[in-house]
Amino acid sequence: MILVVGATGLLGTRVCERLRAEGRSVRALVRRTSNPDKVNALRSLDCELATGDLKDPPQIRAACQGISALISTASSTLSRQPGDSIESVDLQGQLALANAARSAGVRRFIYVSFRDDRTVQYPLTQAKRSVERAIADLDFTSIQASYFMQVWLSPALGFDYVHGRARIYGSGSKPISWVSHRDVAEFCIAPILRSVASRSVLEVGGPEALSPLEVVRIFEEESGRRFEVETIPEAKLREQFNSANDSLEKSFAGIMLQYAHGDAIDMRGLLESIPVRLTSVREYARTVLEPYKRAAL
Ligand SMILES: NC(=O)c1ccc[n+]([C@@H]2O[C@H](COP(=O)([O-])OP(=O)(O)OC[C@H]3O[C@@H](n4cnc5c(N)ncnc54)[C@H](OP(=O)(O)O)[C@@H]3O)[C@@H](O)[C@H]2O)c1
Repeated sequence: MILVVGATGLLGTRVCERLRAEGRSVRALVRRTSNPDKVNALRSLDCELATGDLKDPPQIRAACQGISALISTASSTLSRQPGDSIESVDLQGQLALANAARSAGVRRFIYVSFRDDRTVQYPLTQAKRSVERAIADLDFTSIQASYFMQVWLSPALGFDYVHGRARIYGSGSKPISWVSHRDVAEFCIAPILRSVASRSVLEVGGPEALSPLEVVRIFEEESGRRFEVETIPEAKLREQFNSANDSLEKSFAGIMLQYAHGDAIDMRGLLESIPVRLTSVREYARTVLEPYKRAAL
């Protein structure tokens, strides 16, 4: 039985789908407040549901009983309930999960982390680094993933391909290894399915590093329309970072500043040990633009 924490999230749901497709038994951690459609989707995959919140150590200890491995994708950055914060969930909650796993004798711990940029430190990356230190004595794999296409190249974060408008953080010239969350899911499950990447940090990006302006060009080519581009200068992002009042605001400002600095990853070495056919930005653009092209016919 594999426990998935964050199972109702974008990545966690995909991890559950893939584990079930591989015939693995999955226990999915859900909350009383989780979106019912997302919970039903897990139910229809035949996942066992365990109700629990990372802020509640007894519930987490119960969820860890009888499992052989766990994958934690949970984070409070986008999906929050009252009382959720970087400190209570991403730091204390994940540390409690590591302790619960250790007490239950679970050694295999796959943790979804984020990239490190030594020049920009903020509460979310500090929490991620603390959890990585806390699981170092377990049979851990930490997945340090780059920017998800489905999040950062989406209308929710100002990349509005529906209306041909793109918001870019920084000059737009620094390459980023945009990655599909579906591909990240493959790196989350491979350590369990193929017994690889034990006690390892995996740096996970897409097939090519592209600057945000190159990404805009791809979307223009695929949609056949010019995009209106709004750039937020790095100085403004730095100002926003320095004046942020709470840890969530500081973390969002930090992530944007880190984006402005770029994040290129050479995936060749990792793909030799874990072969995954990585989704390109062009493929992603074709997929998300398809319904609008059809509607225009
Ligand atoms: N977005 C990116 O570009 C990016 C890049 C690199 C790494 N990452 C990392 O990837 C991971 C997955 O991201 P995602 O997009 O799948 O996130 P997401 O869709 O926002 O999902 C977050 C999940 O965490 C759960 N959660 C939040 N607070 C919780 C709590 N107190 N107790 C139990 N569960 C809780 C949520 O449950 P509810 O549904 O009940 O709220 C949800 O299942 C995160 O760790 C993130 O830091 C993201």
